[in-house]
Amino acid sequence: MAECDNDQDELRDLLAQALEYARYYRELGVNGLEQAEKRLVPVMGRVEQTEMPRKSGKSATGDGTSPTTDGRDIAPPPSLPLLPRKVESDAVPAAPAVLETLEEVRRDLGDCRRCKLWSTRTNIVFGEGDPQTQLMFIGEGPGADEDLSGRPFVGRAGQLLTRMIEAIGLTREQVYIANVVKSRPPDNRTPERDEVAACIPFLFRQIAVIRPKVIVTLGNPATQAILETTAGITRLRGNFQDYPRIPGIRVMPTFHPAYLLRSPDKKREAWEDLKMVRDLLNQLSS
Ligand code: URA
Repeated sequence: MAECDNDQDELRDLLAQALEYARYYRELGVNGLEQAEKRLVPVMGRVEQTEMPRKSGKSATGDGTSPTTDGRDIAPPPSLPLLPRKVESDAVPAAPAVLETLEEVRRDLGDCRRCKLWSTRTNIVFGEGDPQTQLMFIGEGPGADEDLSGRPFVGRAGQLLTRMIEAIGLTREQVYIANVVKSRPPDNRTPERDEVAACIPFLFRQIAVIRPKVIVTLGNPATQAILETTAGITRLRGNFQDYPRIPGIRVMPTFHPAYLLRSPDKKREAWEDLKMVRDLLNQLSS
């Protein structure tokens, strides 16, 4: 019976993984995966129906629902991290006590005019998400859509970022998303040195308040600002680095979603990077 349970679990995990891959690549725009996904979903449903009662009482979808034929409510698959709340004994060692909140950082930022970007912006884009998350994503700076809405990563690149987050079994609401600069650089140009210098202290403070276990930096400007390096993303991506300011926080540099939209052949590498992030979070939570 125990062996049978194990086989069942194994099959369930394999199916979930296959489905996860199929969904990820389809959502990133790779053609020809709809059929695989359509075939996998009912098979997974059948495996669930014949499953022995589980100790946790949870279904493979993790929320007690059965998969539907369009696969939309199958996230997150069971092998993915559910991001339990931080416990103080966890791997990130105690950093100096942070006596402020994100609201206070935001208040301090105010109607910021510390660099020239203030004169062309519509809204400050401070960042959003779960202040207690274990995972932060950091981009370069707001684009046109973000400038208008005041929210990070809501344009085309943002939609791809959302799908990337979902591909590792999470939602935007479960992570925190911010940028190196909080005002839009005109014509989406790369933020200049003085602009980064004026804005980055606020991002450092956000990180110190949130104290995630992992930060994913998206593209060159974010990677270089967070790691305080001049090395490029092509060399750094795919390997965890230490966040220099707080011991125990790991940084995974990966490609910016806007770059992935222009160079879809790089999506595979970004997916490899994100899987490492997912696996590390799983490992730290177990
Ligand atoms: N690109 C970024 O780097 N940040 C955003 O918020 C949107 C696009």
